[in-house]
Amino acid sequence: MTEHAPTDLLITDVRPYGEDAVDVLVRDGVVTEIGAGLTAPEGVPTLDGGGHVLLPGFVDLHVHLREPGGEESEDVATGSAAAALGGFTAVFAMPNTDPVADTAVVVEHVWRRGQEVGLVDVHPVGAVTVGLEGVKMAELGTMAASRAQVRMFSDDGKCVNDPLIMRRALEYASALNVVIAQHAEDHRLTGGAQAHEGVVASRLGLAGWPATAEETIVARDCALAREAGAALHVCHISSARTVDVLRAAKAAGVRVSAEVTPHHLLLTDGRLTSYDAVNKVNPPLRTAEDTKAMRAALAEGVIDVVATDHAPHASQYKDTEWQAARPGMLGLQTAFSVLVHTMVEPGLLDWRGVARVLSERPAEIGNLPDQGRPIAVGEPATFALVDPEAQWTVRGAALASRAANTPYEGMRLPGAVVATVLRGRITAQDGKVAR
Ligand code: DOR
Ligand code: ZN
Repeated sequence: MTEHAPTDLLITDVRPYGEDAVDVLVRDGVVTEIGAGLTAPEGVPTLDGGGHVLLPGFVDLHVHLREPGGEESEDVATGSAAAALGGFTAVFAMPNTDPVADTAVVVEHVWRRGQEVGLVDVHPVGAVTVGLEGVKMAELGTMAASRAQVRMFSDDGKCVNDPLIMRRALEYASALNVVIAQHAEDHRLTGGAQAHEGVVASRLGLAGWPATAEETIVARDCALAREAGAALHVCHISSARTVDVLRAAKAAGVRVSAEVTPHHLLLTDGRLTSYDAVNKVNPPLRTAEDTKAMRAALAEGVIDVVATDHAPHASQYKDTEWQAARPGMLGLQTAFSVLVHTMVEPGLLDWRGVARVLSERPAEIGNLPDQGRPIAVGEPATFALVDPEAQWTVRGAALASRAANTPYEGMRLPGAVVATVLRGRITAQDGKVAR
């Protein structure tokens, strides 16, 4: 557990899941009382909730913290700060680092850095294959048994393209009770292309990444997961067709879950006209029909969770021509606002729904017993306090990430995270990280 001691705290005037205002008393990191007119026992600090909405702390199944080896773009400290400011209390850090997180040594390093920084629970994701090369399976069991207790494995950034390796990985996952998170992209169909295959890419003369490259891998993997009785998680779904595959697999009882990113809920390939690589992301931004399908599937529960795919890249990797630029966008500090804009304001999700897709379901999928818990007596005091009425203008330079590659630069977005609480300790408040 964390090196920071759990804390006592009285949080006044908050509306759990948007319901009636109450006070919440926390002792030793656990909720001991919920009711109106509670008073702080001697020496217990008070957090004024201002009538805002209290949700369970957000859990992100998909972030890139770039440590080790990519510290010019992000590290565990800057990424944890961005997470806490975004309302997150746990994140899963993808293994495409340098060295790759494909051994117990590397995953334990990332885990320990998370503990030292102490702003958010950092859960390293282990690589499925050695060096993310897709050839030889990594030692999943050793990583699972390490101090980092790895519960999720992925070659994210690359697809586990070889069906035999994917089959073996799912068989191991079933035996180890861990989940395989697939970056679904048949590289033989995309050939490394990085724009949605459609009219926009044709007009710009960019090679196309067809949606079928995602759909076919998801269909294949659902069949393999069914056979192995394993838990499969599909990263960053981007296409309407993939939703149909998922719906059918879930109806057939396959243990499959899926995520959508905030950018695939909001942005389309219509933004590509300037060749500005801030819009380059993998999988690519697709059509308005696809964003609409993503929203409907998230509301319906066919897509289980929102995960950011927070992908910081220093300016030298982004301020360059389209072909050379690295794919990825920041996501941690804007995720909640984009969700309010795309799902809450149009009435597709209520606050219970937001708690489900940003906290409860991701904690279940990631196998985290003390995250995504109900706001109730006896439960961990791990919360995001949010102001749905607030509006703010996104400025990449003002975000806590070391990189500034936000696609929302200058955009005015609704909803703000007022405070984040991890086991009774305030990790962020009013836009500042607690040190
Ligand atoms: O856009 C992306 N960026 N997609 C990925 O799959 C990897 C990620 C990264 O590591 O930057
Ligand atoms: Zn990916």
